[in-house]
Amino acid sequence: MPSVAAAQNYVLRPEPVMTSLGGVRQELLGFNGSWPGPELRARQGDDMRVRVENGLKDGVLVHWHGLRLPNRMDGVNVLTQDVIPPDVSNDYRFPVPDAGTFWYHSHYLSYDQVSRGLFGPLIIDEQQPPDVDHDITVQLFDMLTDDSGVYDEDTGAEQFTSAGRIGNVMTAIVSRETVQRGDRVRLRLINPSIDRVYSLRINGIEGMIVALDGMPLEQPRPFEDIILAPGQRCDVLGDVSDEITFADDDAGRTLGRIAVHRQRQRRTTAIPTLPPNPMPQPKGREVKARLVIQGGAGGGKHGGFGTWALNDVSGLPREPLLNGRRGTTARISLRNDTGYDHVMHLHGHHFWELSENGEPGDYRDGTLVRAGEGRDILCVLDNPGNWMFHCHMLSHQADGMATWLRVG
Ligand code: C2O
Ligand code: CU
Repeated sequence: MPSVAAAQNYVLRPEPVMTSLGGVRQELLGFNGSWPGPELRARQGDDMRVRVENGLKDGVLVHWHGLRLPNRMDGVNVLTQDVIPPDVSNDYRFPVPDAGTFWYHSHYLSYDQVSRGLFGPLIIDEQQPPDVDHDITVQLFDMLTDDSGVYDEDTGAEQFTSAGRIGNVMTAIVSRETVQRGDRVRLRLINPSIDRVYSLRINGIEGMIVALDGMPLEQPRPFEDIILAPGQRCDVLGDVSDEITFADDDAGRTLGRIAVHRQRQRRTTAIPTLPPNPMPQPKGREVKARLVIQGGAGGGKHGGFGTWALNDVSGLPREPLLNGRRGTTARISLRNDTGYDHVMHLHGHHFWELSENGEPGDYRDGTLVRAGEGRDILCVLDNPGNWMFHCHMLSHQADGMATWLRVG
């Protein structure tokens, strides 16, 4: 079980950890002896301080996924800081303006380090959290193992040219193992898997989606399957009707469960709407950019040197995709010209997914663009710095699918 750290000043020590996964004892990577890393919590408006002490034999960086923080705290090689060498520590300090479900993870050789477990939940509580009996974090994770059930060290080229490194072991890592029938619970679903998109079916809960990627919905929304691409989050508030199970409908497998015991009177109150986070409003003329996603197995030619490319460049281009003054409203048209799905994640900002007719939809930090499809997003560039914009299928990122924006 991942531990919950109690203080507000945290120390995170990335290091090898012995753990049991898929029933096989093995050495993976974790933080502070915990696999995956401990849950970090703070309250909206707090100042978080985290010292990262590198206990690995390799470099490391930690990125605070989804947080709108000062650029130099973002944990990104080249754009915001140097890699932290072994035995060296680095202090991160940032205010947390938004309440919600976030996560942290290695941002160095991330397709390797995250796939071994260098990630953990980062929960920012509302000033007045909704009335629930249990606040439960659920991390959907998959890992590729070899015939003996240990982490597969083979990184075959096909893992980088197709849908990615899709694991054969699948699990839902839950922060609580029992609840009562009738309890009201908040489920914080996080997908830290490096490449897998889940089609998650939750049984045993009658509830609604109340937030996506940490940001509250204006109206709670009913759900059937919840699509969660790598890096995305979803908060569900609901009442327990039976044993809770988490299953992936695409793989046809149950990933985990939360047992029920006893019974209590159910609440009669409706599922509440979460208080909104402060968000910038679009104004002024829109600055436009186009981003064409190219490459992969069976894909056409492009101008980049890697498997994947964005606008004919593999890897971070010398010039940013967009160079905007602080406060600029940017509209980015994404077009997926490949035969695979991709989830584009922007650092330091959230953005609106736009509908076909340009209406603003969900406010997120990662958008799933299916094979052959396109989507426009609208973003108010209010956070100065150099911000990475990349596919969060980490095998794709490793092989070229990354660009950046500059906010002056
Ligand atoms: Cu969750 Cu650039 O990453
Ligand atoms: Cu991708």
